[in-house]
Amino acid sequence: MKEFDIKTKIYFGPGALERLEQIPYHRCLIIADPFVVTSGLIRLILEPLEKNSAIFRIFDDVVPDPPIGKIVAGIQALTEFDPDSIVAVGGGSAIDSAKAIREIAIQTNPNRIRLPLIAIPTTSGTGSEVTSFSVISDPDNHTKYPLVSDSMLPEEAILDVELVRSVPAAVTANTGMDVFTHALESYVSLRYNEFSASLAEKAIEIVGSYLLRSFLDAGDTHARQKMHVASTLAGLAFNASGLGLNHGMAHQLGAQFHVPHGAANAMLLPHIIEFNSQITPHSKSRKEYDHTVRCYVTLARVLGLQNFNTITTVRALIAWTQFMMKEMDMPINMSSTGTCTQEEYEAAIPAMVEGALADACTVDNPRRPTKHDVAQIYRALW
Ligand SMILES: NC(=O)c1ccc[n+]([C@@H]2O[C@H](COP(=O)([O-])OP(=O)(O)OC[C@H]3O[C@@H](n4cnc5c(N)ncnc54)[C@H](O)[C@@H]3O)[C@@H](O)[C@H]2O)c1
Ligand SMILES: [Fe+2]
Repeated sequence: MKEFDIKTKIYFGPGALERLEQIPYHRCLIIADPFVVTSGLIRLILEPLEKNSAIFRIFDDVVPDPPIGKIVAGIQALTEFDPDSIVAVGGGSAIDSAKAIREIAIQTNPNRIRLPLIAIPTTSGTGSEVTSFSVISDPDNHTKYPLVSDSMLPEEAILDVELVRSVPAAVTANTGMDVFTHALESYVSLRYNEFSASLAEKAIEIVGSYLLRSFLDAGDTHARQKMHVASTLAGLAFNASGLGLNHGMAHQLGAQFHVPHGAANAMLLPHIIEFNSQITPHSKSRKEYDHTVRCYVTLARVLGLQNFNTITTVRALIAWTQFMMKEMDMPINMSSTGTCTQEEYEAAIPAMVEGALADACTVDNPRRPTKHDVAQIYRALW
């Protein structure tokens, strides 16, 4: 038996933030990215809450790749303020922080009442507003691991394009390629189903049409609106199907070297598609191809990459990911990130291999990787 449901109620389109005027909560802990506060974007959240006569407190001690220490600080803020709801505003880091703060607060104090969570993304990337995942870092052990539980799903998500206008080009590129990776991994995942696949296909179609437009022109509201929805569609897709080795390996690059999550995913994509499809530039045509290869071909066609045969179409998909990285000035390998020396990188590979194989995302990859496979991909990434 299979199951598919969407637990998070989604408000979107023009005026979506007006939902905050209607929420039946009046004491909100706002967990926000510091940029949202310093830039003044927070007014877009506070004004409707004030109209709703809500009292609020802002916790903005949120950092990228949220470490466990900041989650503890958030639980303290929650305990002191004693809210009736949590409003998370920011990118994946702020929303993941809010999910972990609520989850761990309940686990460490079973008498605490479960608070509703309203997630309001300010990047178009992680889909965290509709997923059961929260990715937390353990800086002492240089590791990053996804917590996964349906109890972390936000009750509501609000998608308002007004919050993503200010996203700089580099973050648009990284988060956009994160959306693409979510949809692609979901589509070939061992746990895919027809519902997750249809969401992933639509997300890929939108990325193909609107990611470059969003990158090239920050003022292209139509493109930004589309990418904001694609991010949530891809989140819904992978929440149902799981992800794969790409994310399992990217988490280690984030934990060890603070490579932005989407950039880490993007540079891995050509290697992972090649590993999963077993189609290299030297491959010869076969009579039949497995399910994963057929999925890659379908997605290549969704992107408009019509090509001669299966091999050239899968190679075209790989070329498309490389083309997007070039167009959006993204690092194509670890050496071009400037985050570490080659010696530091190579020294970290054994720990990253262990971490990637233990990562909760990797288990859904369509081809089971060995330690040797993962080490080889990390080495090729330099
Ligand atoms: N929970 C999930 O399902 C899930 C899925 C994928 C990734 N993640 C995690 O999410 C995190 C990455 O999230 P992200 O890619 O959204 O980045 P992020 O939240 O770390 O933000 C990236 C940068 O963009 C800035 N920013 C955010 N919104 C902005 C805006 N509107 N204008 C200008 N700048 C803005 C932030 O201040 C930050 O400097 C990682 O920790 C990753 O592992 C979670
Ligand atoms: Fe991701």
